[in-house]
Amino acid sequence: MDGLCVCRAPVTRAHILGTGSYVPERVLTNDDLAKLVDTSDAWIAERTGIRARHVAAPGELTSDMAVKASVHALELAQTRPEDLDAVIVGTVTPDMPMPATAAFLAHKLGAKKAFAFDLSAACAGSVFGLSIAQQYIQSGAAKRILVVGVELLSRVVDWTDRSTCVLFGDAAGALVVGPSPDPARGILSTHLHTDGAQANILAIRGGGSKHPQSAEVLAQKLHLVSMNGKEVFRFAVRALTDAVKEAMGANGLVPGQVDHVVAHQANLRILEAVLDRLDIPMAKAWTNIDRYGNTSSASMPMTLDELNRAGKLQQGQNLVLMAIGGGMSWGSGVIRW
Ligand code: COA
Repeated sequence: MDGLCVCRAPVTRAHILGTGSYVPERVLTNDDLAKLVDTSDAWIAERTGIRARHVAAPGELTSDMAVKASVHALELAQTRPEDLDAVIVGTVTPDMPMPATAAFLAHKLGAKKAFAFDLSAACAGSVFGLSIAQQYIQSGAAKRILVVGVELLSRVVDWTDRSTCVLFGDAAGALVVGPSPDPARGILSTHLHTDGAQANILAIRGGGSKHPQSAEVLAQKLHLVSMNGKEVFRFAVRALTDAVKEAMGANGLVPGQVDHVVAHQANLRILEAVLDRLDIPMAKAWTNIDRYGNTSSASMPMTLDELNRAGKLQQGQNLVLMAIGGGMSWGSGVIRW
């Protein structure tokens, strides 16, 4: 699994200067879902670790959620929107196919000088965005970049399909990336991979050039998420284990030197299986999938934000990142906090 490795000692190291997150107000519990489809709290909790998820209000947009998470991250980073050089949004549920949700976000924030674009790496969107931001900061081409993972998956799940609708939740997570005040701290490396041969195991098939919107696309539900859960599970465990080994190896880290695992939470059992193979105790991973479900690209930055605001992160600690999503696309990284 050779992929892009960005691990040279940089002149300027990039760091995360601020974190933020947002979840919509409405909570949908497993018991609520059991009224919609043939499922139960016990089945969902046991197979996934999920007990509840948040669902956006009617009329609430992906960019609205992104704004709320971004404002929190900008405050913490003491950064004004007008000082942002770039806005990167990882999402598969944009406000509309064109223009980018990042353009709406930049406008709503008042990030007037920033260029803005969306990237499509599904649940790995934030790790991909963070890696791109890292390059711009390290090269000196930018001083402040906002990276957002945001998903409004409740609008693209099939609420009659119990094998997918129980998994996902709506949320946004934001990171402000800039030069590290201390070259020994910051993003040490990021590692990205994609295997398009696995494109079919997790997809939204309709609405693009292959299946343009039509009455038939709607009738066949091609505009909604489809997934081969077992295949995704198997692939994710293997790919994430390898990616974290790659990240630890690139930085000479052994399991005992990992202080925190900041993971995209797709399924608690995937995370448990990966950490078991890596010999890293689950106690190192901050989990919130019980409260939020799988929030796709929002998951990693939201988890980092929770750790950060709970005061769990100490200077010099090693954080290992990991995320995987449709593509299949996945990535890992190491941050020295
Ligand atoms: N409630 C009750 N029963 C359910 C159910 C639900 N919500 N969803 C599926 N089932 C049933 C199936 O119909 C099947 O019944 P059958 O044996 O009578 O045919 C049975 O449970 C087992 O289904 P299976 O798909 O084999 O379950 P699983 O153990 O693989 O768990 C997932 C299903 C989706 C939880 C699991 O495969 C998974 O988490 N995969 C990864 C998904 C993921 O992370 N996606 C996002 C990646 S970013």
